Amino acid sequence: MMKDNMLLYYQQVRNLTEQHCAPLEKEDYVVQPSPDVSPPKWHLGHTAWFFETVILKQHLPDYPVFDYTFDYVFNSYYETVGSRVIRTDRGNLSRPTVDHVYEYRKHVDHYMQELIKNNISEAVIQLIILGLNHEQQHQELLLSDIKFILGHNPLFPAYKAEPLKIATEPFTPTYLRFNAGVYQIGYQGTGFAYDNEFGSHQVYLENFEIASHLVTNREYMEFMDHGGYEDFRFWHAAGWERLKQIPKNGPLYWHLTDGIWQNYTLEGLMPVKLDAPVNHVSFYEAYAYASWKGARLPTEFEWEVASSQLTWGERWEWTQSAYLPYPRFKIAEGIAGEYNGKFMVGQQVLRGSSEITSPGHSRPTYRNFFQPEQQWQYTGIRLAF
Ligand SMILES: [Fe+2]
Repeated sequence: MMKDNMLLYYQQVRNLTEQHCAPLEKEDYVVQPSPDVSPPKWHLGHTAWFFETVILKQHLPDYPVFDYTFDYVFNSYYETVGSRVIRTDRGNLSRPTVDHVYEYRKHVDHYMQELIKNNISEAVIQLIILGLNHEQQHQELLLSDIKFILGHNPLFPAYKAEPLKIATEPFTPTYLRFNAGVYQIGYQGTGFAYDNEFGSHQVYLENFEIASHLVTNREYMEFMDHGGYEDFRFWHAAGWERLKQIPKNGPLYWHLTDGIWQNYTLEGLMPVKLDAPVNHVSFYEAYAYASWKGARLPTEFEWEVASSQLTWGERWEWTQSAYLPYPRFKIAEGIAGEYNGKFMVGQQVLRGSSEITSPGHSRPTYRNFFQPEQQWQYTGIRLAF
């Protein structure tokens, strides 16, 4: 990548993070209403810390560290770097202040831009690209965390007024048919991809059918109305147990008021749009819905094979594939080795991307992953047979 292009790319990605925070009030930056949700201030600091730790401290001689306490405060899960604030305590960080964290970002940006303008090696360019993709991942987490923070405020404040563009027109669902055969899976391009997408390999698939569109709110409501949440036969044991411990009867953010389902959106509390794809369902719910329909979720391989013919990009789509390494997967040396590999247990793969995924941060081979009970990401359902 040319130096000027890299500079522009760096600035665009970094700016978007701050643009996402622009509608917030200072008080919104700090709270942590759930262990899985990080305060916006923490995302701002952590993404700057990533560049400082992985690039500036290693590759810019005489780089002046902004604040030596930040390794402890903004390290997420990197054992290589050392001890850190436990994740559940991120909401206790009333200090460093929001202003101080913005100064930190400016400091890191200043030296990163110096570094980019000078001669840098191909290896450092690759690390910068990793840092920018990391920041883009956090941009989506930032938005879903902001939604959780504001959506659990009893006043349901809107994040912003303008509605997101998403198809909500009725459509006729169709099923695409694929023949049994051997298919190539994994990233084979020359651009950026995460280490978990490499190891391109062949898989054998049986005949399968996959829905052209995602399950809508209207369809999901039928499942709710027909007692889907009350019948153990549709659920995994773990999903049913969780339902007993934390009773619920609909997706996250849904509220039944005077007989009308409303859901919290980034524009505030709104009536549920019936023809929009259902959002914020767990893997357990996705599986239960599919079972109730006499269908199943696609495997991640079926999804990838079908992707060129699907409409996707509105919701992360739960697959029935466990998150596992591809053939020849190797843990990288150093801090980058902690990025993906150590999470390959107990999680499901999600494919596609969502309406809040950052521009340029999706591809058909992308493998997202979350624990089966998680709902706070923009997660939906596509059926397969
Ligand atoms: Fe991170």
